[in-house]
Amino acid sequence: MRKQIAAANWKMNLKYDEAKNLLSELKNCSTENSNAEVILAVPFPYLLTAQEILKSNSSIQVAAQNCSQHVQGAYTGEVSAGMLSSCGIKYVIIGHSERRELFNEDDKIISQKIDQAIGNAVQPIFCCGEPLAIRENNEEAGYVEKQLQQGLFHLAPEKLEGFIIAYEPIWAIGTGKTASAEEAQSMHLHIRKVMAERYGEKIAGSISILYGGSVKASNAKEIFGQPDVDGGLVGGASLIAADFEAIVGSLK
Ligand code: 13P
Repeated sequence: MRKQIAAANWKMNLKYDEAKNLLSELKNCSTENSNAEVILAVPFPYLLTAQEILKSNSSIQVAAQNCSQHVQGAYTGEVSAGMLSSCGIKYVIIGHSERRELFNEDDKIISQKIDQAIGNAVQPIFCCGEPLAIRENNEEAGYVEKQLQQGLFHLAPEKLEGFIIAYEPIWAIGTGKTASAEEAQSMHLHIRKVMAERYGEKIAGSISILYGGSVKASNAKEIFGQPDVDGGLVGGASLIAADFEAIVGSLK
């Protein structure tokens, strides 16, 4: 049975003291669902502190928000997947639309980052999702399919077992405009179908597909209740402990 996941993406928010407060508030956050997992993607300088504060709670994992496509060396300011792994980090967000749009990460760079993560035993949370203009032209299915092909299809089947994909329509990120539960389900089903065509039903069925884009305590239950939605990747609402806990409580 694939995992149900509530993942927080803090992005570039919170000073160190604020981060420690939020981590302490979330320290006892748990779900009764043994198949559910909580992941917190915090800024790089807070990774080790987050691990330390959360170490008594085995249902919460700490993630990085990015890693380099390079192995090591003269890349000032970059953080490698090997460094993350050596710090005990097990998850990393790769291909977020903000990285694609603001930092010019193309499909080639993203596929290299995926390889770096996997090669260092760090599980990627691979993000895909279309901009508004593509949705308005009803071209979102093909757009996301291409992102999956370019980012993941070079991987051997065993690497996709239990993989994590986040579908985040760009028009829904930070806008307060959420995809409807039906729109999310329809795209998640499409993503699973695309993965099944390449890797077979068994592997596609093992992949957790998270929805991201203005997930809130008030809409999480309906969205997560869809058969192919296996949880969420949450930005703004993950910065308030009570809201994120309610979102965790909305997992199937
Ligand atoms: P919001 O939840 O703030 O819309 O952000 C979504 C997101 O980008 C998570 O990665």
